[in-house]
Amino acid sequence: MKAAAKIISGAEYLIALTGAGVSRESNVPTFRGVDGLWRNYDPMQLATPHAFARDPKLVWEWYSWRQALIAECDPNPAHTTLAEWEANAILRCLITQNVDGLHRRAGSEKVLEVHGDLWATKCSSCGYRGRLDSPAVGIPLCPECNSMLRPNVVWFGESLNRDIMTRVHEELSLADVILVVGTSALVQPAASFPLVVKYTGGKIVETNIEHTPLTPASDVHVSGKAGEVLPLLDQLL
Ligand code: OAD
Repeated sequence: MKAAAKIISGAEYLIALTGAGVSRESNVPTFRGVDGLWRNYDPMQLATPHAFARDPKLVWEWYSWRQALIAECDPNPAHTTLAEWEANAILRCLITQNVDGLHRRAGSEKVLEVHGDLWATKCSSCGYRGRLDSPAVGIPLCPECNSMLRPNVVWFGESLNRDIMTRVHEELSLADVILVVGTSALVQPAASFPLVVKYTGGKIVETNIEHTPLTPASDVHVSGKAGEVLPLLDQLL
């Protein structure tokens, strides 16, 4: 913990990468692991363009269920610590794979949501982009062309948003330390972001309840729950 705090305190440009583990203590299910979503649901039936083309109602039911679940969740001390670090200019940018919006709800503003936003929609045929303010009912339709809207999240087999990726790469090139919180580091390209920082001379601090493929490349690994580790780290800065 002390070693991690020392690296964070000494950082000139600290960024963070978060995954589902940062929201676990807010009761948002992770994807992998014991009670992970992908243990009980098949991503190929729910989170691919092909799945949406085949059964849009099923896909929307799944997203509506997650929207309702997340609407009941609140940010936890991991989210609030990261938001405070941004407000105090300790943290320059937060890259998240999460679509739950909890970082923004905790007050983080410089957030790059590389896998999209659970509440955002886009039209399956025209360029319309929208936002739901409550869980979807049935299949929402485009107000401009009446085609089906789809969740504006990144599905398996899809590319990440080009503008967001440009900003991610700018941040990775500026960062001298990346704090990696609660990701299994199994999904590309996000899993490689910390390595970009490392290979340009920066450091990786990882915190997770388990070891990941990123652990051997990390300068420090802090074992523990994000909602406990981050406030403790904060006290050591
Ligand atoms: P995963 O579910 O793959 O991994 C969650 C990680 O969080 C694991 O390494 C756990 O050990 C760790 N974890 C669990 N509870 C924790 C806690 N309380 N504190 C700290 N760590 C904890 O989630 P991601 O790595 O985010 O993509 O998954 C990456 C992507 O795979 C997701 O964004 C999603 C999924 O398919 C898309 O939907 C495109």
